[in-house]
Amino acid sequence: MTVLKVGIIGIGRIGKIHLGNLLNMPDVEVVAAVNPSKAGQEYARKLGVPNVSDNADIIFNNDAIDAVVIGSSTDTHTEYIKKCTASNKAIFCEKPVDLSLAVVKETIDIVNTTKTPLMMGFNQRFDPNFSQVKKALKAGELGELHSLHIISRDPAPPPMDYIKTSGGLFKDMTIHDFDMARFIAGAEVVEVFAKGHNRIDPAIGEAGDIDTAMVMLTFENNATAVIENSRKSVYGYDQRLEAFGSKGMMRTENPLKTVNQYYNESGKQESRNMDFFIDRYEEAYRLELRAFVDALKNNEAFPVTGKDGLEAMFIAEAANKSLKEGRPVKLTEVN
Ligand SMILES: NC(=O)c1ccc[n+]([C@@H]2O[C@H](COP(=O)([O-])OP(=O)(O)OC[C@H]3O[C@@H](n4cnc5c(N)ncnc54)[C@H](O)[C@@H]3O)[C@@H](O)[C@H]2O)c1
Repeated sequence: MTVLKVGIIGIGRIGKIHLGNLLNMPDVEVVAAVNPSKAGQEYARKLGVPNVSDNADIIFNNDAIDAVVIGSSTDTHTEYIKKCTASNKAIFCEKPVDLSLAVVKETIDIVNTTKTPLMMGFNQRFDPNFSQVKKALKAGELGELHSLHIISRDPAPPPMDYIKTSGGLFKDMTIHDFDMARFIAGAEVVEVFAKGHNRIDPAIGEAGDIDTAMVMLTFENNATAVIENSRKSVYGYDQRLEAFGSKGMMRTENPLKTVNQYYNESGKQESRNMDFFIDRYEEAYRLELRAFVDALKNNEAFPVTGKDGLEAMFIAEAANKSLKEGRPVKLTEVN
């Protein structure tokens, strides 16, 4: 069995998940981990990563490393992607590539010119329930897709420091739903109409952002998608979708914390929703990195590419313009 040698950059919330998944793969060796803070470094060291540093050159100067997993803060992604292209290393990068569309375009151009393999971290595509909807559509079981409904609500808003640097709701949160819409529909978006308001915390509005949104997408084949977002759902993380086609409909439900049901004189009670992305998408994160490793080992194309990262950013940019101008915006206006 050939072993893929990997370096990982960024040992925060998402980096810890990726590191754990990589360490569980018998055909992967995590050679090095990089994080500026001692806490992140200590975390990797305790898990047995042999080379740990605050300097990413331990990865880029190591010719034995085949691939790099980038899970550091968004503003560091492009620097590391470019270093990977220069040192001939395959890349797995968390979303988004960057908050500036121009920078994303420039970076993806470099990736394409250097033919560096890049997989983007749109983990939700690997959720077994969502991928079953995709499979059903692909197999023709739902007929032709007419409309799609995506509901994506976080349990609670992130801290204000995060909100201020997040790039706004559409680039930070809805970006996953934009990608999911393209993935499920198997078609490109041509128009975006976004409405959004500040309904949860006035501080979010004061920071120039929204916390509640409804976005309508029109695809090139005239199918439509409606995305509903909220930064605060009191019953937990709410992630569902419904695909409606000429031959039928498929709907996903939220997996709950437990499958137990409690019956008493007032009726039936079920468990709460999952807390957030860490528990809700545990399996998706594992399958996502497995797909990355398998594609590299088998010399196959990645299931999620730089183009997907770029297209999702175009939609986010159009959604911001639509929100600001109060009208539907064609994607050609931002591309
Ligand atoms: N796909 C998903 O579901 C998902 C979920 C959460 C976050 N993300 C993305 O993952 C990235 C990280 O988010 P997070 O929530 O883990 O943030 P986080 O703040 O918990 O972790 C970021 C880590 O990067 C480290 N870091 C900062 N600057 C660095 C640098 N120059 N070099 C190396 N490491 C550096 C920080 O010390 C920290 O450990 C973001 O791009 C975010 O959008 C994706």
